[in-house]
Amino acid sequence: MTQNVLISPSILSADFARLGEEVKAIDLAGADMIHIDVMDGHYVPNLTIGPAVVKALKPHSQKPFDVHLMVSPVDPLIDAFVDAGADLITVHPDSGPHLHRTLQTIRGHGVKSGIALNPATHADVIDYVIDDIDLILVMSVNPGFGGQSFIRSQLAKIESLRNKVERSGQNIIIEVDGGVNPLTAADCINAGANALVAGSAVFKGAGTYAQNIAALRGNQASQVA
Ligand code: DX5
Ligand code: ZN
Repeated sequence: MTQNVLISPSILSADFARLGEEVKAIDLAGADMIHIDVMDGHYVPNLTIGPAVVKALKPHSQKPFDVHLMVSPVDPLIDAFVDAGADLITVHPDSGPHLHRTLQTIRGHGVKSGIALNPATHADVIDYVIDDIDLILVMSVNPGFGGQSFIRSQLAKIESLRNKVERSGQNIIIEVDGGVNPLTAADCINAGANALVAGSAVFKGAGTYAQNIAALRGNQASQVA
């Protein structure tokens, strides 16, 4: 099993009254990225974090901020999240009229670009933007809420995306988001994922944050204090 999987804890499951401390804690616990779920109450039925909060959190960690935009229309908000300190911005193909232009805009700011595939979205949606993305986010739940169950049909999609990425020769991260716990993490890695988002499993799991993160990598014990 791959040991190099990147773990991006979703702060959606963190204590919102202590967000800065929570970001610092997952950084120290071994997180590779900080996953920030931005929801607008329109594209998804939930309302979460805006750019002002992202900006306030930025000094609390040097790790890349992995910003997942679940907002529509997405284009008018890109600049604000770039200014707030996003290192990677992931968008849904149906959240704006011109996906290719949106991805170019993100990269034009010197920020990495990602494309998020909802459970019913076909893997082929990446075919004509494969040169314009740094990350593919496979949604293994319907976007909107933490704590949902992993949708197993997405494993075949991960495999198909892994084949496409290998054929392209591009260095594209395949990240899975939703219902990821130590058991489903292993399935995702075996299917070809090399990055995992986890909210509940990190912030509400049985162990310390470091133990919970290590368990997602397939390690029983944490190497991090
Ligand atoms: C869902 C979000 C996820 C969510 C994951 O719309 O994109 O990042 O927070 O939460 P868990 O790991 O609890 O399924
Ligand atoms: Zn997310």
